[in-house]
Amino acid sequence: ALGSSAQLSLTNGIVSPDGFSRSAVLAGGSFPGPLIQAQKGGEISINVVNQLVDESMPIDTSIHWHGIFQHETNWADGTAYITQCPIPANESLVYQFNPGNQTGTYWYHSHYSTQYCDGLRGPLVIYDPNDPLGSMYDVDDETTVITLADWYHDSSIELGEISTLVTPNSTVINGLGRYSGGPSSPLAVINVQQGKRYRFRIIGLSCASWFNFTIDGHEMTIIEVDGIESEPMVVDSLPVFPGQRYSVVVTANQTVGNYWIRASADLLNRTFEGGLNSAILRYEGADSGDPTTEEGPYDLEFNESLLVTLDGAAVPGTPEVGKADVNLNLIPGHIGELFNINNVSFVDPAVPILLQILSGATHASQLLPNGSVYELPPNKVIELSFPATDGLVNGAVGGPHPMHLHGHNFWVIRSAGNSSYNFDNPIMRDTVSLGTQGDNVTVRFVTDNPGPWFFHCHIDWHLHHGFAVVMAESPSDAATEQSQVVPQDWRSICPANLTGSG
Ligand code: C2O
Repeated sequence: ALGSSAQLSLTNGIVSPDGFSRSAVLAGGSFPGPLIQAQKGGEISINVVNQLVDESMPIDTSIHWHGIFQHETNWADGTAYITQCPIPANESLVYQFNPGNQTGTYWYHSHYSTQYCDGLRGPLVIYDPNDPLGSMYDVDDETTVITLADWYHDSSIELGEISTLVTPNSTVINGLGRYSGGPSSPLAVINVQQGKRYRFRIIGLSCASWFNFTIDGHEMTIIEVDGIESEPMVVDSLPVFPGQRYSVVVTANQTVGNYWIRASADLLNRTFEGGLNSAILRYEGADSGDPTTEEGPYDLEFNESLLVTLDGAAVPGTPEVGKADVNLNLIPGHIGELFNINNVSFVDPAVPILLQILSGATHASQLLPNGSVYELPPNKVIELSFPATDGLVNGAVGGPHPMHLHGHNFWVIRSAGNSSYNFDNPIMRDTVSLGTQGDNVTVRFVTDNPGPWFFHCHIDWHLHHGFAVVMAESPSDAATEQSQVVPQDWRSICPANLTGSG
């Protein structure tokens, strides 16, 4: 693991997470990248050094710290063409930011083209020495991280050109898995001791698949959702969409032995073969063989609409649909190979949006790309609604779509699969599934963080094909604020014609 002040070198290397060898993009030499550990309130400073050479994959880069608000450090959000120029090969950039009060489970990944599908992704945990008092957080061990990812045997450049509907070759848990027809490659093992209580941090690092996560014979108590402490909810299965995180408490209260941990991948209604998407929960004293445990039964069903933020904060603004200060309908669509939102398919601008803002463009009408930038006023309540208009949106084409907002959490006032609204105590999170046909997911957030923030489907192939918009939050405040703080390196990685430095 890395500390909060570290160098993260990006290199190409051959890996075989599922028994198939391929060249990949590695952070810190491994797949997934090393765990970055930080403490609440502490500064994080990561020197990203781009040593990529393999041109069969994207070679420029940009690293995003998923879920971190980047309050006053929009420039460090790491989104290529939104908040920065890509970092060219042989260059580096120090990302320096303070997550303030944020704690819990996050991750980092490339936000340049589809590069994270080639491997550039890893976990980030912010520990709180004073986790909320109360029995749920009183665990014997909170260090276990379980990453769930899809894995591909071809380079993301090839896959990204083929189509928006790309099928992974395998599921890897903590970077290990097996593909259909492949060798019996080693699986990840999570070690526990009988009688102890564990906090497992589960992270969806996926490019496309979402997972139904289960542990044979064990219940899980959800205590954290995307960095937000939640009222305990006991489940025996947990849907994890790309970008989402949960902490669960698991008590090792079964007979000493081996138990399957399963992450059944679901993608466009194509389910992978069972048994390949597995890791092993191993009690101390058990043999080192594969588990023989049976799946299910599942009767403690997950229900997103019943998740409650621990501090129970009510939703800001008038508790009625469409009665926020700003109400936006964002209607997903799909034409040919391209996705769009409100009929506009996102394309990267030549000049990163923050750079445009620093150069004096402060209105949506001036900011490129045309039609993809929504200008939002400061200190207002924004409601985003995703109405299902016909069979081709929200569900049918490649859904359910996990939508992620940078720079914020939002209150999920209507979640997928639920017909009623909750203004009293809904969960806050940063990535929400739009569900399937007939759902109308609705969220609210407050514009308390000036800057251009990307808002997109976290299925990376969909983002690559235009499923994104930019929330340009108080651009003139962002210009004033960021002009004071952008480091010299942030400018100098840009082509000279963009920055006027030469
Ligand atoms: Cu996790 Cu815009 O990303």
